[in-house]
Amino acid sequence: MAIQRPKGTQDLLPGVVEQWQGLEEQIRKICKEYGYQEIRTPMFEATELFQRGVGETTDIVNKEMYTFLDKGDRSITLRPEGTASVCRAYVENKLYGGPQPVKLYYIGPMFRYERPQSGRFRQFHQFGVEVLGADKPMVDAEVITLVWDLYSRLGLKGLEVHVNSVGCPTCRPEHKQKLQEFLEPHKEQLCKDCQSRFEKNPLRILDCKNSSCQEITQGAPTTLDVLCEDCAGHFAELKRLLTAAEVVYKVNPRLVRGLDYYRKTAFEVLVEDIGAQSAICGGGRYDGLVQEVGGPQTPGIGFAMGMERVLAALKLSQEHQDEDKKEFLMLVALGEKAQSEGFAIISRLRKKGLPVSIDLLGRSLKAQLKAADRVQAKYAGILGEEELSKGIIILRNLRLGEQEELTLKEFEEQVLKQYKEDGNQ
Ligand code: HAM
Repeated sequence: MAIQRPKGTQDLLPGVVEQWQGLEEQIRKICKEYGYQEIRTPMFEATELFQRGVGETTDIVNKEMYTFLDKGDRSITLRPEGTASVCRAYVENKLYGGPQPVKLYYIGPMFRYERPQSGRFRQFHQFGVEVLGADKPMVDAEVITLVWDLYSRLGLKGLEVHVNSVGCPTCRPEHKQKLQEFLEPHKEQLCKDCQSRFEKNPLRILDCKNSSCQEITQGAPTTLDVLCEDCAGHFAELKRLLTAAEVVYKVNPRLVRGLDYYRKTAFEVLVEDIGAQSAICGGGRYDGLVQEVGGPQTPGIGFAMGMERVLAALKLSQEHQDEDKKEFLMLVALGEKAQSEGFAIISRLRKKGLPVSIDLLGRSLKAQLKAADRVQAKYAGILGEEELSKGIIILRNLRLGEQEELTLKEFEEQVLKQYKEDGNQ
């Protein structure tokens, strides 16, 4: 039997690789403009880095890591994400000793043992940025603006930026307690995963996809209800700056990220249409992580975006745009009289909002039909002197090659009806 690639991985063949290179080029360009420098860390690390960094109660560490013992009996893990590695590199290379903040970016493969489905892979690629050594809300605003700017340059449509504040070690204990009190009476009805989250990390219950857990958590206290003064001020300033930068965002108090290191700001960018896996970017502030991996107390914030998902979303918006460019009907009129009658018909249809056009060059029948083909019109209305004298017009379905003769009134009614049936109005 022929050997196949492992489940959840992809071969990127010529033709597709060029799209990746195009995206990488845009990423490098914008990073340069915003003053971010590239960092490349190993694809595998000591397992402990992710246990400590990403967190023992996360799905990533509990279920999804590619962990193995190497020949020297060291526990090694293929990196499931880039933030912990960047913090380790910051400490190990004493980058905290140089000018701050340190603004870094990376592009590369990550590995998670997840159930593969559309948009979810076991080897996937992230572009991520991390800013270390700066704690002001303007840094949070800068990284969110960077990704927003990148997506608008790429022409991505239908995006939603969700922001939240998940608090800090000062205010989170109060939230934890309130949430536990709220959930206590329903504890038995929570799913198995959430029952085990109840003690250690009840915040993650707000994020559970299980419908009965979602019902139970309706109206549960959110972190926004209990933010301490510092976190509340930080969040208010971030919102002000995002508005000033014209980033369109939504406050989502239920946004809980799947990694343990977040404090204060958490955010995601979601895109419509690409199916269940709609988060194309996720990030937030992690002011305790550098210390957690053995460095000095250093604030940090960043995000990572899934390149496969961004490319899928781009392909979809491209298809929508191509669809938008298509004409519904081209009116092919031959001879002066037919042209002026045709122009009147087109004007009436346009008033009703239909994407229709008429030849403006007085070309031959053949040339006009060719033009209709070029704009991918679905229908052509053909009106010559002969049809005009009989008071009729030909409606031709260019996709099916069928046609019928109709009176001018019937023609307009039929075109409108067809347009509506195509789901346009
Ligand atoms: P994350 O939310 O786990 O965050 O992943 C970020 C993005 O990577 C997701 O929004 C998604 O687009 C993509 N992604 C994640 N898992 C998969 C998968 N199995 N297949 C395809 N795409 C996937 C982090 O990784 C954090 N390190 C982000 C960060 C950086 N926070 C602060 N700095």
